[in-house]
Amino acid sequence: MHIENTKILSALPNLGVDLLRSVSLGELTSLGIGGATDLLRIHRHQSIPSLLNLLEETEVPHKFLGGGSNLLVIDGELPFIVLQLAQPNPDVVIAGNIASVDAAADLGKTVTLCAKNNLGGMEGLIGVPGTVGGALRMNAGAYGMQIGSYVREVKVYRAATRTIEILRGPEISFEYRHTSFAPDDMMLAVTLDLPSKPYQQILQGIRICNEKRRSSQPLGQKSAGCIFKNPPGGSAGRMIDELGLKGFSRGDARVSDRHANFFVNTGRASAADMLALIAEVRERVQQAYGVTLENEVVVWNA
Ligand code: EPU
Repeated sequence: MHIENTKILSALPNLGVDLLRSVSLGELTSLGIGGATDLLRIHRHQSIPSLLNLLEETEVPHKFLGGGSNLLVIDGELPFIVLQLAQPNPDVVIAGNIASVDAAADLGKTVTLCAKNNLGGMEGLIGVPGTVGGALRMNAGAYGMQIGSYVREVKVYRAATRTIEILRGPEISFEYRHTSFAPDDMMLAVTLDLPSKPYQQILQGIRICNEKRRSSQPLGQKSAGCIFKNPPGGSAGRMIDELGLKGFSRGDARVSDRHANFFVNTGRASAADMLALIAEVRERVQQAYGVTLENEVVVWNA
């Protein structure tokens, strides 16, 4: 989608928003799939309510992009524009056990920086690609931990009230790969309260998680991490593997040989290839186990 409305175009400089024309989402997502659209990069949180009011008023459909690591986007000219936070400098500020982190901060770098300040707890997230905002929105977790456990407060743009709000403790619920944020809420910043731990000890935990991940996940390939959530008490990866579906493919979209819940783009997979593979695997698991797997990957198809 191309922004043509002059009211929007003339307001952007004052709002501190950069316009990037015809950006390929294939280049901004870890799956390497997705068509092109205009992207607005936001440098000031306080501009967001005005910007969003303007987009609503002019009826420009929009979506929020984090790090693009858990996302499958349709091909072709996209029927929406994309909003993304610019990365401030610094994006992480540490005081005592509290880390104040911008949503645009890289998750891995944040875990490492906290570790260097003798703050642990997040070792399991070390190899998870993406931004802190993306991790927060879906309560990313691995190796027995989840980011939600360390959240003290979250600064969020709430689409329902069109205001920036600070939410604390009981105002947010974090469940397995799910949070109480609305789909159109935009994560802006988070305050994490992390346990003190000596750097060397954190480093050891990080090495163990890295090793586990390297031995079980297709790290060098284009993927969006796990495609499906695990069903209660079960493992989507194990079920897909048991059905002999490793290597099963649709075009260049393929069930990883390493971890059956990772679907990789082996070349020039289209969104249609990946969606067809997801539908087919879901159907086979449904038939064999009577379990309907729910997407973990976020799909932007309209
Ligand atoms: N398994 C197989 N075959 C496979 C994959 C897994 O038999 O192809 C078996 C494993 O041997 C193990 C069980 O299934 O006994 C669980 O596998 P694993 O330990 O790899 O964990 P997972 O449940 O598949 C979850 C998260 C991952 C996270 C790992 C490590 C979900 C959907 N996935 O995977 O997160 O990295 O645990 O804690 O919750 C993600 O969210 O994108 C993601 C990759």
